[in-house]
Amino acid sequence: MSLEGQVALVTGASRGIGAAIALSLAAQGAAVAVNYFGSEAAAQAVVQAIRAAGGTALAVKADARDPHQLEAMAATVKAELGPISILVLNASISFPMTGFLDYPWESFEAKLLGELGAAFHGCRAVVPQMLERKGGTIVAITSGLARNPGWGFCAHSVAKAGLEGFVRALACELGPMGIRVNAVAPGLTLTDATAQLPEKHKDAAAAHTPLRRNGLAADVAEAVTGLVQSGFVTGVTLPVNGGSYIF
Ligand SMILES: NC(=O)c1ccc[n+]([C@@H]2O[C@H](COP(=O)([O-])OP(=O)(O)OC[C@H]3O[C@@H](n4cnc5c(N)ncnc54)[C@H](OP(=O)(O)O)[C@@H]3O)[C@@H](O)[C@H]2O)c1
Repeated sequence: MSLEGQVALVTGASRGIGAAIALSLAAQGAAVAVNYFGSEAAAQAVVQAIRAAGGTALAVKADARDPHQLEAMAATVKAELGPISILVLNASISFPMTGFLDYPWESFEAKLLGELGAAFHGCRAVVPQMLERKGGTIVAITSGLARNPGWGFCAHSVAKAGLEGFVRALACELGPMGIRVNAVAPGLTLTDATAQLPEKHKDAAAAHTPLRRNGLAADVAEAVTGLVQSGFVTGVTLPVNGGSYIF
C-alpha cells in the first residue's frame, strides 16, 4: 500500500532506528516530519536524503517529554505538511543502567514519566489531527526487555511494559474512530545506543537468535512500515529480534 498523501511524524528521527523509520516511510510515499532534540545536523541530513530521493520531509525540534513542545511541533507539521495520519513514538528516553538496589528513585521516576509522558502527550497532540482525517495509525517502539528483562534495565523494562499497556488501551479506545495502535519491540539493534556494548555481548545476543545476527535499524523500520501499511492489525506488539523470543 502506497503512503502517498499521508503525513508521518517520527519522534527521535535524527539518528538510529527513528532515522531508518523516517527514510522507510518516505520511500513508501509519506511526507515525513523528522523530530530531533539535540542533533539538528543529523536530522537535516535525514531530510536531505529523503528530498534527494524525491520525497517530502521537514526537520522539527522538540523535546518529546514536553507536552507544550509536542503541541507546538504537531501544529508546525500540520501547517507545513498537512494533518498527521502516522505517528511513530520512537524517541529514546535515557536512563542509567544500575541494579535495582542502587537505582535512584528520581531516575526511575524520570524514565517512567519521560517514556509514558512522551506517549501520552504525543498522542494527545496528534490524535485530533487523525480524527480530522477520519483515521490514522500509531506505532510505539517498545523493547524485548519489556518481557525479558536484564540486569540494570529495571526502569527501562517497566517503562516499555507500561508503553505496551498504553498501546493496547489506545487500540481499544481509538479503534472505533479508525485509528490503529501497535507496538514494535526490537531486540538488540546496532545503533549509537548500543555502540558501547562489548563485542562479546553483541555476539552472545546474535547467537541467541535463529537468524544468528544482531538487528539493524532498517530491520525495525521495515516492520514499522509494514504495520503502518496493514489494515486490520491493532493492539499487537511485534517482536523484531531475529526470533530470539523462541528460546
Ligand atoms: N538500539 C536498541 O538495541 C534498541 C532495542 C530496543 C528498543 N529500542 C528503542 O528504540 C528507540 C530508538 O533507539 P535507538 O537505538 O535508535 O537510539 P539512538 O540511536 O540513541 O537515537 C536516539 C534518538 O532519540 C532522540 N531523542 C533522545 N531524547 C529525545 C527527546 N527528549 N526528545 C526527542 N528526541 C529524543 C535522539 O535525538 P537527538 O540525537 O536529536 O537528541 C535520537 O534521534 C528507543 O525508544 C529505544 O528504547 C532500541
